Amino acid sequence: MRNIRKPATGFSAAVCLTAALALGAAVPAFGAEKAGPPGKQDRPAIVGHRGSAGLSPENTVAGFEQARNHGADLFEVDVQLSSDGEIFLFHDATGTRTSNVAEVFPERAGDPITSFSAAELSQLDAGAYFGGSFAGEPIPDLRDAALVTNPRTGINIELKSPENSPGVEAKLAEALGEKRYWQRLIARDQIVVSSFDEASLRTFHDLMPQIPVLLIGAVPDDAGLAALAGWADGLVTNYRTLDPADVARVQAAGLTLDVYTVNSVDAMQQMTALGVDSIITDFPGVLSALQTGRNPLPDANGVEVSTVVADPPGNDVQPQNGEYVLLTNTGSVPVDVSGYVLQDAVINRLTVGSGYVLNPGGELRVYTGPGTNTAERYYNNRTTAVLNNTGDSLAIFTPGGTFVDLYAY
Ligand code: G3P
Ligand code: MG
Repeated sequence: MRNIRKPATGFSAAVCLTAALALGAAVPAFGAEKAGPPGKQDRPAIVGHRGSAGLSPENTVAGFEQARNHGADLFEVDVQLSSDGEIFLFHDATGTRTSNVAEVFPERAGDPITSFSAAELSQLDAGAYFGGSFAGEPIPDLRDAALVTNPRTGINIELKSPENSPGVEAKLAEALGEKRYWQRLIARDQIVVSSFDEASLRTFHDLMPQIPVLLIGAVPDDAGLAALAGWADGLVTNYRTLDPADVARVQAAGLTLDVYTVNSVDAMQQMTALGVDSIITDFPGVLSALQTGRNPLPDANGVEVSTVVADPPGNDVQPQNGEYVLLTNTGSVPVDVSGYVLQDAVINRLTVGSGYVLNPGGELRVYTGPGTNTAERYYNNRTTAVLNNTGDSLAIFTPGGTFVDLYAY
């Protein structure tokens, strides 16, 4: 059970999928002096994961702009190399989840995204998967991302699966050498490069030692930390597996400690209390609201995720008793939840059917798999599981796109 919900402090802008880009007014009040090196501030730096991946398509300019407009100190992007050696921004190993590759190149839909040339990648739509209002968003390159930065919002560039992009380290160093785009960011210490791949990160570091580098992975023992501190600037780790004692241990070694991907108010508060240097989240606006004393979920209407059963005994999508999300109305008035959308971190969406009204205290189990609908149970009739058994997050939206709750497990 959660212990969230900071009281409203008068902030009332609607956080809507459809209107999210209009949230320029939500930029926090802190000034340019708050930007700068992650981990050198009196609060954790806000890093928008893949832009603002919970409210807009990941690794797109629309998402980078939203992260900036929602108060992110940095936005994170994933870089890969096209078959003809051009850097592009994309997370997955294939285009199937976040692009329309199956429509444009049906014979090659499952091929590595790095097997496409830059010209071919430019034909893909990287926005429509998220929602119709984002249709037409192209796969960006690094310059596109640089143009979104400003004195408050810098960039975290992740070398994504560099084994699929041989030579990406030198290409990245070459690109960042383009002064017109990067000189100011480098001078303001507003750019970091990260990777799960230590060898790749070190190769980049040797080419461009003036850019801070962050290794992504588990916290090593003290000897490992000392070795890492010999060349890297920080460590990025999964908040779910973080031992609280490791925060001080990492920082005592002279490294910053960042955590990913923190998609609940509770977890954001816990990580802030632990003193981490940066919090990477798909919802930078939620964290920014917390840091500036605003209501992080201003359109909450009492309907909350109270439990997730992601790994029931047996098959996760078995008839009647598979995985489910329990919605509860914690408010004082009935809420019609027909058409409500439950969205996980990789933008799988479960919906609630029509005719469901939750009275105060009322509960509804929303199942992924098949079953017989009742007043307390709604089945999505899907054949594959959605809820990640090792942890996931769920954002809840009304049918009109109003963002009402955020939950992580
Ligand atoms: O920077 C942390 C995070 O981006 C690493 O995970 O898979 O989302 O790139 P991933
Ligand atoms: Mg990444």
